[in-house]
Amino acid sequence: MATGKFITFEGVDGAGKSTHIAPFVAALRARGIHVVSTREPGGTPLAEKLRELLLHEPMHLETEALLMFAARREHIAQLIAPALARGDWVVSDRFTDASFAYQGGGRQLPLARLEALERWVHPDLQPDLTLLFDVPLAVARERLNRSRTLDKFEQEQDDFFERVRSVYLERAACSPQRVRVIDATRPIDDIGSELALLAAAL
Ligand code: TYD
Repeated sequence: MATGKFITFEGVDGAGKSTHIAPFVAALRARGIHVVSTREPGGTPLAEKLRELLLHEPMHLETEALLMFAARREHIAQLIAPALARGDWVVSDRFTDASFAYQGGGRQLPLARLEALERWVHPDLQPDLTLLFDVPLAVARERLNRSRTLDKFEQEQDDFFERVRSVYLERAACSPQRVRVIDATRPIDDIGSELALLAAAL
C-alpha cells in the first residue's frame, strides 16, 4: 500500500507551473521528507523517449492518447509506485489531468476513451493533491512567446487552449478536496509564498 504522498502540478502551457516546482520540492526536503521529483510525459528512460515523439511528431489523436498512457504505465511501474511504497513523496510536473485537458479538451477525444485508459493504467492511484496553475489565455500566450522554441502542443491555436483550460477548471470544480487552483496571474513571489506555506503544512 502506498504510504507517501503523490502531488501533481498542472496548468496550460505558459501558466508558469514549472518555475514553482523546484522551490516547492526544496521546501518539502527541508522538512526531511524524501521527495522524488519527476514529470510527464517522461520520468523514466523509455518514457522520456516517448516524450520526444509526443512533443515533436505529428500523429493520430488516439495514438497520442495511447502513447501518453503507455509512457504513464512505465512511469508508474518504474518510478511512482515504488517510491510511494517506500514512503517517499512524489511530485510530478503533470499527470492524468493533463490527458483529460489536452487530449480530451484540446483534441476533443471522447471522455469515455480516456476514462477507460485511466481505469486500465492506474485504477487505484490518484494524486493526493493537485496544484492547478490557472491563467487566462492572453497571459499564457504572452509568457509562451517570450520562451524558447515551441513544441507541438504549444503551437496550437487559442481555441485549443481555451478548451484545455476549461477542462482543467471543470475537473478542479468536481474534485475540490484534491485540486487547489492557484491564480497564476499573480507575481512569482506571491505564488512562491503561498506554496511555501502549503509545503510547511502538508
Ligand atoms: P510541459 O509539461 O509544459 O513541459 P515543458 O515546460 O518542458 O514544455 O510539456 C508537456 C506537454 O505535453 C504539454 O504541452 C502538455 C502535453 N501533455 C498532454 O498533452 N497530455 C498529457 O497527458 C501530458 C502528461 C502532457
